[in-house]
Amino acid sequence: MKVTVSVIKADIGSIGGHIQPSRQLLDTVASYVHDQGQKLLIDSYISYTGDDIAILMTHTHGTGFEAIHKLCWDAFMKGTQVARQQGLYGAGQDLLKDAFSGNVRGMGPAVAEFEFDERPDEPFLFFAADKTDPGCYNLPLYMAFVDPMNTPGLMLSPGMSNGFRFIIMDVNHTEGDRIIELNAPEDLYAIATLLRDTERYVVESIWSRSTGDQAAAVSTSRLHNIAGKYTGKDDPVMLVRVQKNFPATGELLAPFAIGPYVAGCMRGSHQMPLMPVTLQSGISYFDGPPVVSCAAFSMHNGKLTEAVDTFAHPFWDTVRVNVSNKAIDMRRQGFFGAAMLPMSELEYTGIMEKLKSLDERFQIRT
Ligand code: F6R
Ligand code: MG
Ligand code: MG
Repeated sequence: MKVTVSVIKADIGSIGGHIQPSRQLLDTVASYVHDQGQKLLIDSYISYTGDDIAILMTHTHGTGFEAIHKLCWDAFMKGTQVARQQGLYGAGQDLLKDAFSGNVRGMGPAVAEFEFDERPDEPFLFFAADKTDPGCYNLPLYMAFVDPMNTPGLMLSPGMSNGFRFIIMDVNHTEGDRIIELNAPEDLYAIATLLRDTERYVVESIWSRSTGDQAAAVSTSRLHNIAGKYTGKDDPVMLVRVQKNFPATGELLAPFAIGPYVAGCMRGSHQMPLMPVTLQSGISYFDGPPVVSCAAFSMHNGKLTEAVDTFAHPFWDTVRVNVSNKAIDMRRQGFFGAAMLPMSELEYTGIMEKLKSLDERFQIRT
């Protein structure tokens, strides 16, 4: 059976700053999707990571299907009303356009979706990150899909030995999608060359070269490119099919133990380590650290099992301690050097304005 898995997420307001949505807000979104999605969806799962609410759906309508996107847009609009009534901070923050026009892409919410012939046993992972941007997945995806040091399956599993095709997007290009297709392993150095620049080049999707099946789908939107100004970090979602001809679940999760420094955290303007957290986790230290959650599912005819919380396992406690230490260490240097993002990526305009006024006070010594 051909099934589509779609996840659409948005920040539509949270309690106590940019940290976590309210129970009533979540319930509003969930019951809207449940009631209005009866005919449209096979199944759905509503969750939050930091201040973002994600609507995960299974259905048979293919990717980019208008009614599915509209369902989520309307659910977020409905939620925004509740967020306003409750006085939540940043109510409707990610809904950047006034009216829905066919597809939520380019309207604020982040989208990741793929369609495939469901395997008899179909495991997949749903990742959601907050206080960071889609480049945060570049390293884990590189390691999981091209590096035999991380993924022994690339050597051991015949179904993976032909490698994977990467579609990488230049997210700075705003007039349409500028993409490149590269094949691992031949194009390894080219893939690495692009993926090191996480603010510009982002993995959009990954495909098996043995079967042609899609393995991964990542949301690639950059909010400041849509709004022309800072309206929050992009807080990306990602779907990854695992096992058999794809990397094993453990091969996908392993790179997250690094807790790599990513762009984001306070005011979207810092470099801070990415912490793997349990499902339904909020945000705390320095509006961060940037977090990523992962729900594992199996499904049959599009019907989902319950979500398994992959980062709840005791193994990740040590990782979280390491990431906390990395975060505290980095914060000791405040605004200095690598702690803050380069000028082009600063998400607030204050520094630009200060530099402009200082510029007039500079003098050339004669
Ligand atoms: C980062 C984020 C927060 C805010 C910060 C200031 O993505 O959401 O760090 O940038 O709390 O928020 P405002 O400008 O809304 O007071
Ligand atoms: Mg927010
Ligand atoms: Mg967020």
